[in-house]
Amino acid sequence: KAGLKEYDKEEVAKHRTKETGIWVTYKDGVYDVSKFVEQHPGGAARLMLAAGGPIDSFWAMYQQHNTAQVRGILAEYQIGRLKGGAAAAPKPADPYAHEPERLPALIVRSQKPMNSETPMELLTAALVTPNDLFYVRNHLPVPVVNPDTYRLKIEGEGVRAVELSLEDLKTKFKRHSITATLQCTGNRRQEYNTSGRPVKGLEWDGGSISTAVWTGVRLRDVLRAAGLEEDEPLVQHIQFEGLDTDMAETVYGASIEVDKAMDPAGDVLLAFEMNGQALPRDHGYPLRVVVPGVAGCRSVKWVGKIIASAEESTSFWQQKDYKSFGPNVDWDNVDWSSAPAIQAMPVTSQICEPAAGTQVDDDEVTLKGYAWSGSGQGIIRVDVSADGGKTWHQAELKKVPQKRGRGWAWALWEATLPVPKGHKGPLELVCKATDESYNTQPESAAPIWNLRGVNCNSWHRVLVDVQ
Ligand code: MTE
Repeated sequence: KAGLKEYDKEEVAKHRTKETGIWVTYKDGVYDVSKFVEQHPGGAARLMLAAGGPIDSFWAMYQQHNTAQVRGILAEYQIGRLKGGAAAAPKPADPYAHEPERLPALIVRSQKPMNSETPMELLTAALVTPNDLFYVRNHLPVPVVNPDTYRLKIEGEGVRAVELSLEDLKTKFKRHSITATLQCTGNRRQEYNTSGRPVKGLEWDGGSISTAVWTGVRLRDVLRAAGLEEDEPLVQHIQFEGLDTDMAETVYGASIEVDKAMDPAGDVLLAFEMNGQALPRDHGYPLRVVVPGVAGCRSVKWVGKIIASAEESTSFWQQKDYKSFGPNVDWDNVDWSSAPAIQAMPVTSQICEPAAGTQVDDDEVTLKGYAWSGSGQGIIRVDVSADGGKTWHQAELKKVPQKRGRGWAWALWEATLPVPKGHKGPLELVCKATDESYNTQPESAAPIWNLRGVNCNSWHRVLVDVQ
């Protein structure tokens, strides 16, 4: 923009409050974001950390800002240029200089931080997803952790402050393995966008879900060894902190209810192995929490600290992110404290094959997919249709053996359906799953629309083309 006013850094630094106006710089631009602060999807508090100064290093850390859409939003607020131009603008170092290697097969939704899906046709290939194909959901750079000096700290109410090395965890507690599916609450988010009303968040298709055999020790055993009694009245929540941080020392954090943490049938693990190998760096090396039956965001990776508390984690991701609201609530009227943090997730399913737009024969079509439900509610049935949901068939299920109420792993399914006689052109394939509590999926996404685009579990539909 030509003819913009020039401001020096000192002038920008005077604008840090509602009263003065909230200014930031990005490269050599000066922006008055006062009107945007409350709408910041990452929370007003986060944006306020940058008030009066450059946002460049924040954007280098949270690179989901690096899209034409976000740059466009920022451009609307430009009021001037930084005196001295580009030379005066900061050149942030790359906080992602130490990321692990990843397979090119992963479908990358964001590079920095790494967010990638497992390709559809690989999801259904085996009941357990290979480590290097397991979906990755990182909010921050992957921390570099030295296993020899690593200590898990336990503190808070009702426990003795304890520090445990990896060796302590591996030798002083009984090992336990579970097969459990992790799913991001944003899985299938794209479908809200195609339902007509856009949401904010990574554009996940249905591949931010995977299953592994996790091995470690029970969180319950470790908490009890630290002195936590059953039904300790001072403790309602178990908080977890990751070792991944941003430049403001914000760590990834989340919490679960103490009842889940201490339930012998809850199977919450502190896992050091994934499918028989040491945890890969992307999945939490050297130690992560696995909270089976619960949204992936509570399974904190690179866990460094566990806090027994009367309160939930105060982290942004517990308080202001992974929550769902009615379709009447939007960014301008959301009261984050009015909804509980998502823990267990609703029943869902997905047609992984054939992909949308595939040309299929006019006699029959074979569908493959997955189905999963939260709270350990195993999948009992997947209904499939090759005529948009007018008539239904039963898919054949493949599952690992699991006890009722402890069905932590998904079911994979397959069905071969007749194509309606004489049909040519677009054909709608549909699936819907039912869990052992007889919960099933809503017919469409529009009525469950929510501003963060979480918990999308409507019937999954795929349009193929009959030759
Ligand atoms: N733990 C830490 N420390 N940092 C994170 O960014 N992401 C969470 C959770 N644990 C995250 C984390 C989210 S949102 C999900 S869905 C799962 O990890 C993803 O686990 P995965 O990357 O092993 O698939």
